Amino acid sequence: MSSIDSSPNLIITGGAGFIGSNLTLALQEKFPGARLTVIDDFRSGDFKNLAGYRGDFVAQNLATLDWHKQFGNEQIDAIFHLASITDTTLHDQFVQVHDNVESFRRILNFARSTRTRIIYASSASTYGPATEASVESNGAAPANIYAFSKVIMDNIAISAAAELPDWIIIGLRYFNVYGPREAHKGIPASMVYHLATQIKAGQRPRIFKHGEQKRDFVYVKDIVEGSILALEAKESGIYNLGCGQARSFNELVDILNKCLGTKLPPDYIDNPHAHYQNFTEADLDKVRSALGYQPQFPLEDGVRDYMKWLYREEKS
Ligand SMILES: NC(=O)c1ccc[n+]([C@@H]2O[C@H](COP(=O)([O-])OP(=O)(O)OC[C@H]3O[C@@H](n4cnc5c(N)ncnc54)[C@H](O)[C@@H]3O)[C@@H](O)[C@H]2O)c1
Repeated sequence: MSSIDSSPNLIITGGAGFIGSNLTLALQEKFPGARLTVIDDFRSGDFKNLAGYRGDFVAQNLATLDWHKQFGNEQIDAIFHLASITDTTLHDQFVQVHDNVESFRRILNFARSTRTRIIYASSASTYGPATEASVESNGAAPANIYAFSKVIMDNIAISAAAELPDWIIIGLRYFNVYGPREAHKGIPASMVYHLATQIKAGQRPRIFKHGEQKRDFVYVKDIVEGSILALEAKESGIYNLGCGQARSFNELVDILNKCLGTKLPPDYIDNPHAHYQNFTEADLDKVRSALGYQPQFPLEDGVRDYMKWLYREEKS
């Protein structure tokens, strides 16, 4: 690896959460000699996601954490910043923007003098309503306060990177992620998880009329691989990270029925949301050429792998 050696010192914020825990455990496996520190305040995460983790854990709220006091002059190779309020239905504008943006600003302020590499989670929600694949150069159109907080994070990352070209800051716009270790999220967990749970309970899967809305559902293993590739990026940038293909909720129900050996037809319900994303799809051209990202899990394969993990106890 070019910039990061085989025993790097890495910090993962939000490591008790869904994507953060998958990333932390993958880093532990990929770099057995690494020094890993997770920072999380458990507001939505769960320690159970980190079963098998051998690293350090700092239980702190990032919106108030004094990084210099906590880490002094420790040499850190990279900070993966995934911590965020992730409940998009939390409408408290002050809390969403304060906690998400100030947490990030503190990291930028800490990492600036040492030019510590930052890889942070942005979101496809920054694009707002779309009818075709979203390209990174599209303007931001946040439809909720969560998405707005991510747009501000992108804005301050872009200006920090522009000021200091030798400082690498990578923003990753994750699309609709599903996979192991997301159950703790409750309602904000993926539709893959919710529909699987309904089907396993013998219920017809409930989706909004008439199931033709499409999403770029991306498996968390692809998201983890893409995030780790950012350790080698040669320059700052913001990239989409998705599967690259929009699939409908009807297709998802078919795939789940096949995997789970059921034939439960969808139960179509009215959509109560005025500002609903009817379509998400990541254009992957930029991230393919800059990071060499190549998703490995089309929806059929990701769902199959996930269902094996979710219901593994039944199989053994
Ligand atoms: N899951 C998705 O589909 C998706 C899509 C786009 C972007 N993202 C982004 O990916 C990242 C990870 O999301 P996730 O799905 O794993 O959600 P998650 O809720 O499981 O994880 C977020 C973690 O951050 C922690 N946290 C939140 N605010 C904190 C703070 N101020 N201080 C310390 N810890 C804090 C939570 O306790 C939790 O463990 C987030 O930044 C999210 O916005 C996720």
